[in-house]
Amino acid sequence: MTTQMTTQTKREIVLTGDRTTGKLHLGHYVGSLKNRLQLQRQYETYIMLADVQALTTHFHRPELLAESVRQVALDYLSVGIDPERSTIFVQSMIPEIAELTVIFSMFVSVSSLRHNPTVKHEAKERGYEDLYYGFLGYPVSQAADITAFKATLVPAGENQIPHIEQARKIVRRFNELYAPVLVEPDILVGERLDGLDGGSKMSKSLGNAITLDASPEEVSMQIRKAKTDPARIHKTDPGHPDRCTVFGYHCIFRPEGSEDIRENCQKGAIGCAACKAMVTDAIEDVMQPIRERRETYKHRPRYIDEVLMAGTAKARSAARQTMGEVREAMGIHYFK
Ligand code: TRP
Repeated sequence: MTTQMTTQTKREIVLTGDRTTGKLHLGHYVGSLKNRLQLQRQYETYIMLADVQALTTHFHRPELLAESVRQVALDYLSVGIDPERSTIFVQSMIPEIAELTVIFSMFVSVSSLRHNPTVKHEAKERGYEDLYYGFLGYPVSQAADITAFKATLVPAGENQIPHIEQARKIVRRFNELYAPVLVEPDILVGERLDGLDGGSKMSKSLGNAITLDASPEEVSMQIRKAKTDPARIHKTDPGHPDRCTVFGYHCIFRPEGSEDIRENCQKGAIGCAACKAMVTDAIEDVMQPIRERRETYKHRPRYIDEVLMAGTAKARSAARQTMGEVREAMGIHYFK
């Protein structure tokens, strides 16, 4: 009877995280936070404030990390991440992650990192030519983030697929070299949200994002300015919804009404202003409860610190356990 139960309900260990380089935005919500809210109800869940990974691009601004760690933690609580269900922790306070990174780095080739499409894209976006060692190697550190907790499932955006692939390869290699102690993770890919300027993904560094702490006025102003079908000048011009950022928002925030919008836009029967007002309402349905929760946590910085300290202590003990097994598998535990 118990075997049947265990084969039917796979026990997942969920781990994911965010770089602490500023506030989170709606793209994070759609791409990952939404999935985490579901997963935390069923599974053991770890959520990491990736301050070390943030250093790969912000090593010259460590003060930004200190501020962002708390900002992102507040974003988590505001969207409904429940510290009773999810272990929220700080990456730099888990030295085992750094240890595991060093061990993995011995058998990861530089060329496999150079070919990682997300690393390439980010390097180009930032104008990096001669890559920093830590930046090129961050997927190795990310593999350590995941495997230190034996995570089986990583809810993240599509741009994280190459990193999870890399982590799976590292796990296979480690297990074959030493002993099968590490676990290959799967990714749960969330939806992609385009930025307000159309085309590229919503991202803070591109300045095309709606942050999760935006006021109703800011949300409505930002949507009013959002890019639509450039071929549509008059309300009666037939529109091309598939070329319109705002139509993409309809599909995500009010999917039940999106086919109507498509038809009416194509017929020139609805203008962009009305269309935008409808999607703004749908976005507000998501934002309003986030704003309310933020009000309750915003004035409790001490509570946030306590959540992070308790989460970090718990995460540390899990990572220490794995690191012990790793040393044992490699036979580098000299003094028992
Ligand atoms: N690379 C992720 C991002 O840019 C952040 C991250 C760090 C992460 N470590 C992770 C995501 C482990 C998932 C699992 O958003």
